[in-house]
Amino acid sequence: MNIIKLNAIDSTNLYLKKLAKEMKLENYTVAVARHQTAGRGQMGTSWVSESNKNLTFSLLCRFNNLKVEGQFYISMAVALAVIDVLKKNVKNSLHIKWPNDILADGYKISGILIESVLKKSFVSQSIIGIGLNVNQQIFPTNIGKVSSLKLLSGTEFKTDELLIDLIKTLTLFLEYVNCQKYNELSKLYYKNLYKFNEPAMFEDAKGIQFLGKITGVSQDGRLVVAFKNKTSRKFNLKEIKFVGS
Ligand code: BTN
Repeated sequence: MNIIKLNAIDSTNLYLKKLAKEMKLENYTVAVARHQTAGRGQMGTSWVSESNKNLTFSLLCRFNNLKVEGQFYISMAVALAVIDVLKKNVKNSLHIKWPNDILADGYKISGILIESVLKKSFVSQSIIGIGLNVNQQIFPTNIGKVSSLKLLSGTEFKTDELLIDLIKTLTLFLEYVNCQKYNELSKLYYKNLYKFNEPAMFEDAKGIQFLGKITGVSQDGRLVVAFKNKTSRKFNLKEIKFVGS
């Protein structure tokens, strides 16, 4: 395992991305930081995490034969790996909120930011950034329903041990992508997907609320929502959110 341990850095994703450009890194190299000064989240948001309490790390993964259209399988594999490790550590109900937020008892405890390099019609490598709230107990009130493993279970966790298990499990699930075990990944992803196949209230970008049912995720990673009148529509991340989240 090639693990680069950093005390403080702007963002482990930025750091690893830059390093991978400068030198040939071993596949599955990880950069982990005790503190990020400019942690990045999805859609230009930031990821704030108290120093020394949580996990903030990025992993480099190369792909042999992954078509650009199949890049959502990376998201599936990563979310499933995180869920798998968490299941071994807490008893709370765990779900993947599309595309790849990890919820425990409905609270976000982990976020994933995947940044990929495309070569022609293939994904050549991804920098997979993961933030996991481990032992933090106080969160800003303006970041929604978030929690940590400690808050949910009352137990203090060893971040180093969690990291090793996460790397091993990520490697395993990312091999599913390289071996094109796409059906297995999809099946497992839907099994763990929040509000899959059940009526839920959504809100579009204009703030209009509507009732629908998630029936899947399209090949290009959009959320497929079916309506009462038997029609369905695909939404990207900017176009839809759950009401109240
Ligand atoms: C999200 O839910 O918006 C994604 C959050 C991803 C945060 C992680 S922390 C480690 C890595 N470095 C970053 O700057 N972001 C990711």
